[in-house]
Amino acid sequence: MRIGELTLKPFRNLQDLHVDFESDRELILGGNGRGKSNLLEAISYLSIGKSIRGARDREAVPHGGKYFDISARWHDGTRDRQLRVFYGQEEGKQVFLDGAALSRVSDVLSLFQSVHFSPEDVTLVLRFAAQRRRLLDILICQAESQYLHALQRYQRILTQRNRCLRGWRATPGPDELIGWDVQLCRLGGAIRHRRMRGLIQLEPDLTRFYRRISTAQEEVGVVYRGQVVSELDDAGLLSAEVMAEEMTTELAEYRDRERHAGHTLCGPHRDALTFTLDGVGADSYGSQGQLKGILVAWKMAEVRFLEGCSGQRPVLLLDDVFSELDEVRSAELVALVEDFDQVLLTAPRLPGEGICDRFSQLRMA
Ligand SMILES: Nc1ncnc2c1ncn2[C@@H]1O[C@H](COP(=O)(O)OP(=O)(O)OP(=O)(O)O)[C@@H](O)[C@H]1O
Ligand SMILES: [Mg+2]
Repeated sequence: MRIGELTLKPFRNLQDLHVDFESDRELILGGNGRGKSNLLEAISYLSIGKSIRGARDREAVPHGGKYFDISARWHDGTRDRQLRVFYGQEEGKQVFLDGAALSRVSDVLSLFQSVHFSPEDVTLVLRFAAQRRRLLDILICQAESQYLHALQRYQRILTQRNRCLRGWRATPGPDELIGWDVQLCRLGGAIRHRRMRGLIQLEPDLTRFYRRISTAQEEVGVVYRGQVVSELDDAGLLSAEVMAEEMTTELAEYRDRERHAGHTLCGPHRDALTFTLDGVGADSYGSQGQLKGILVAWKMAEVRFLEGCSGQRPVLLLDDVFSELDEVRSAELVALVEDFDQVLLTAPRLPGEGICDRFSQLRMA
């Protein structure tokens, strides 16, 4: 997969930007605050239909403006296509594929695929449980629209169930709760199963890439709901139905506590997903450099994962990836992305002698 032309008219501080990515190795250079991160954020809008940084759409509208408009030409492996994401304060958000409006913004997910790394995410994602779940969820949504629908339904039922728990002492009674439980567990089992299967697929690449980037000898690992992912395989993975039954038992155990708490205390929305270094939680003990190594390796593994699902390699967007890396690490990283289809890097200055020789340079004024 390759992105060719990109037009931002406007997006955040970029009022009218037209870029033609002629090469599949681009180094985007520019001083602080020029809009390098904004440019990569705009590209990922075309992949996921929302801000990869978790910003609200209206925050990406230029100050004093009323809308943003991102459009691009990209090659999906067989032909050139056009994608446009428009958001207006009055009109709302709309996505256009080859000029025709998509009925739902989320339909954009399986079209142009990209994977985005930003150093801002290192602390945010790796230190907070909810952000780690989001990392995995966004990835699986990019691969499978059914997963997004399951998550959305789960969230709706969870809201209903929580409302019901809060009102338990009055009406409605536990009978209504049981109705919600059945649906919640069915979806919860499916979500847990899909997450686990995704992790089993991803983990070998994560370890391989981490070994190449890290200076030390430590081993990275992933643990989901107390299970060490490297110890599992697809054959040993419990089915979605069995996971749904497990969740039913779990809910029964939590019932009294939930009644007091007034909300649902177990399920995929609370599951622990952790990264480990030599078996110890990286969120509590990892150094900044180690966490960065984990996230970069994870993102590279994401590219492989999505390629495995769609047969197309997503575009890799690496924002400010060289910061805090020495020249050896930086060179290693560039060597690692050698066989990726298209890689766009940003940096405030050239990363060091010879490191990005194969990259075309795009300077942001
Ligand atoms: N909605 C917006 N409207 C106008 N300007 C905005 C908006 N959102 C962000 N900006 C501006 O965009 C600029 C930051 O752009 P960006 O983060 O892309 O810079 P950068 O080139 O990545 O810088 P650095 O090298 O420091 O990472 C800031 O000056 C910020 O104030
Ligand atoms: Mg930046």
